[in-house]
Amino acid sequence: MIGIFDSGVGGMTVAQAVEQLLPDSPLLYLGDIARTPYGTKSARTIIDYSVENTRFLIQQGAKVIVIACNSASSVATDRLRREFNIPIIEVITPAIEQALSTSRTGRIGIIGTRATIRSGVYEDKIRQQHPGYKVFSKACPLLVPLVEEGWTGKRETKMILRRYLHDLKNQQIDTLILGCTHYPLLKDLIQARIGKKVTLIDSSAATALFLKSYIDRDKAFETPGNHDPSQNRFFVTDLTETAAQIASKIFGRTIQLLPI
Ligand code: DGL
Repeated sequence: MIGIFDSGVGGMTVAQAVEQLLPDSPLLYLGDIARTPYGTKSARTIIDYSVENTRFLIQQGAKVIVIACNSASSVATDRLRREFNIPIIEVITPAIEQALSTSRTGRIGIIGTRATIRSGVYEDKIRQQHPGYKVFSKACPLLVPLVEEGWTGKRETKMILRRYLHDLKNQQIDTLILGCTHYPLLKDLIQARIGKKVTLIDSSAATALFLKSYIDRDKAFETPGNHDPSQNRFFVTDLTETAAQIASKIFGRTIQLLPI
């Protein structure tokens, strides 16, 4: 069983990509809506929440954990790997791999929450592999609440994006990493603003591929073979109206959210 968590609905973009690629693997999701957003909180708090989320998913039967949140991946991955004896997959490495194989000019942009950008993890990992690459990052803290509110097509959201992407637009990047799992829900607006010459890297799809190759290699990971994805369970720490709507939109079917 695959356990996936995020601070809210954003990680469902990862869950949906995982469900599509691995339809035979039962999936459990936890959205910590009661405590969203994570990206404005301290590393210590994000780590504590991530430990609790992981513990819950393991109690429910998860055998591999996907941290479907860049903020938690940035600061909590090492701690989760030390504390829990099952594979912990994060979203940053797959996104970087995809960005590095995409970029031709070595000028890469990253947008994410404050916690992710402050951690410097993307820059560090890219420069470790390509010291000459130029990395431009921008924290966009207002975007997560806008997505959680379902404001993905509003004029106000476009205005905020224009402001956030202004500097990046002048840096001649050819690749932009969506370093937050909420941002694929704003993909069209971001693409329109940054320009169609820039390739957007969606960590959801990249992470699902990474997980699939991991599971394919791992002989110990058993999949039942006749699993029905509609049996996948989606837990939330708070049940809000918008969350249920966004979840159903992401999956293209009615998703019943289970409050814990
Ligand atoms: N979707 C998460 C991320 O990738 C969470 C953002 C947040 O809660 O601030 O960073």
